[in-house]
Amino acid sequence: MPTPTDAESANAIRAHHAELQAALRERVVALTDAVRSGQAPQPAQSAVLAFLDTELLPHAAAEERSIYPAGDRGVTAMLVQAMLAEHRNLIAHVAGLRESADAIEAVGSARAIQALFESHLSKENDLLLPALMADPSVSLGKLLGGMHEILG
Ligand SMILES: [Fe+2]
Ligand SMILES: [Fe+2]
Repeated sequence: MPTPTDAESANAIRAHHAELQAALRERVVALTDAVRSGQAPQPAQSAVLAFLDTELLPHAAAEERSIYPAGDRGVTAMLVQAMLAEHRNLIAHVAGLRESADAIEAVGSARAIQALFESHLSKENDLLLPALMADPSVSLGKLLGGMHEILG
C-alpha cells in the first residue's frame, strides 16, 4: 500500500477528531440528562469513563509517540509543550471524574473534560497539522504508519 499523502493523513486525523468529539459530547449529554431527570449518575458516568479510557486517552498517548515529537522543535515547540500540558490536564480531569462521588461533581467534571478536549482539538487541527504539513522534512503518512488511534 502506498504511503498516504500529508493531505490524506491530515483529513483522516481531522475526521477522527470529529468522531471523538461527537462521541464524547453524546456521552456527556447522556450523563447530564440522566442527572437532570433524577437518575443515578453511575451508569452514564461509567460510559463516559469507558470512552475516555479506551478511545480518548489512547489517542492522546499515540500522538505523544508520533506527531508531537515531530512538532517539538522550531516554531511549533512551545505549542507542542502546551499541548502536552493539556494532555496531562485531561488525564487529571479523567481521574477527577473517576473519583466524583456525587452527580453534580460528575457532571461538572465531564463538562470540563469536554471543554478542554474541544479547545485542544482546534489547536491540533488548525495549528499543529498545518505546521507539520508545511514542514518538508515531515511525512505524516510515514509518521503515523496506519495508527488507528489517530487515523480512526
Ligand atoms: Fe492531543
Ligand atoms: Fe488528537
